[in-house]
Amino acid sequence: MEDIWRQLEAELDRAKSLPEIEQVRIKYLGRKGVITVLAKNTDFGKLSAEEKKSFGQRLNSLKSRAEEAVRAAAERASREAVPQDGATGGPDLSLPGTDRRLGAMHPISLVQRELEDIFQGMGFRVLTGYEVETEYYNFDALNIPPDHPARDMQDTFWLEDGRLLRTHTSANQVRALEQFGAPIRAIFPGRCFRNEAMDASHENTFYQLEGLLVDRDISVAHLIGVMKTLLSAVFHKEVTVRLRPGFFPFVEPGFELDVQCLICGGVGCATCKRSGWIELIPCGLVHPRVLEFGRVDTSAFSGFAFGLGLTRLAMMKFGIPDIRLFNSGDIRFCEQFPVSM
Ligand code: PHE
Repeated sequence: MEDIWRQLEAELDRAKSLPEIEQVRIKYLGRKGVITVLAKNTDFGKLSAEEKKSFGQRLNSLKSRAEEAVRAAAERASREAVPQDGATGGPDLSLPGTDRRLGAMHPISLVQRELEDIFQGMGFRVLTGYEVETEYYNFDALNIPPDHPARDMQDTFWLEDGRLLRTHTSANQVRALEQFGAPIRAIFPGRCFRNEAMDASHENTFYQLEGLLVDRDISVAHLIGVMKTLLSAVFHKEVTVRLRPGFFPFVEPGFELDVQCLICGGVGCATCKRSGWIELIPCGLVHPRVLEFGRVDTSAFSGFAFGLGLTRLAMMKFGIPDIRLFNSGDIRFCEQFPVSM
C-alpha cells in the first residue's frame, strides 16, 4: 500500500492539467483502479479477525488519502489555470473583459420610466390605452365635433373600418373617466400618429405622456405646481415656467406651458430660437363637456389635463438634434444614453 501511495503521489506531481489529474484518478480510484481492485481482490476470508481489521483500516485510509490528494491537485490546477497577477497572487484584473453586447434602453423608454416614477410618487396611476382608437374617444368625446377645425390640425391616419391611429394620448381621458370615475389621478404614456411631412422636428410617429387629475376644488395653481415638480425632477434643477393662452377644445382655460430655455438660461440661443423660452406642455383645466362625456358630476368635480411631448422632452434632456433618429432602429443611437439618470 505504501508503494501505491508513493507512486500515486509522484504521478499527481507530474500531472499539471485537469485532464491529466483525471487520468491519475481513474488509474487509482476508478472502477478498475489499482486501489479499487486491491480491495476487491483481497480474500478477506483467509485473514484472521485481527488482520482483517488492520488491513481494512489501512485500505480505507489509503483510499481517503488518495481521494484527498486528487482533490487538492485538481484545485491547484484550476487555480493555476487563471493567469496570475505577479504582485498579489490574485487573478489578473488588467485582462480585457469579455465583450458582451447587452443592448441599451431607448431614450424614450428612459424618459418615460423616469416620468412614471415621478408621477407615481405623486399618486398618479399609469394607464395605457389603444393605439388604434375610435373617432369618438379621439375627437367627439374631447369636444371636437366632426366639423371642428381642430381636426384639421391633426392630420389623421384613418382605417378602412372608420377607426383611426390615435393622434394624441388625450383619447385616454374619457376612457379613464368612464372606467374609474372621479376623483382620479392618471398618466397615459404612449405612441401617437399624425400624417406629418417628416423633417428634423416632425415625425409621423411620436410619443406623448398625457396627465389627468380630477378632484374637488382643482385650480390652475395645482396644475402649475405639478408641472413645476415634474420639470424640476426631470432636469434636476429648479425651472422657470410661464403660461400663455392656448386653444384646445377639451380644456378651458387652455395654455401653452413654456420653460425657460435650459441651454441659455433665458438669454436667447439657437435652441429656443432666440426667444429664451421653449414651448413644452400644452395643458388646461378639463372642459366641463369632457367631464360630462366621462359621466363626472361637474357640480362637485373639476380637474386639469396636460399633454407632454415625450419625444420633445427626450430631445431636450439628451440634446438630440433630429427626431428621425428615434425610430431609426440604429443600436448605436440607443447606446449613447446612460441607463441611470
Ligand atoms: N392633446 C393635445 C395635443 O396633442 C395636447 C393637450 C393635452 C392639450 C391635454 C391640453 C390638454 O396637441
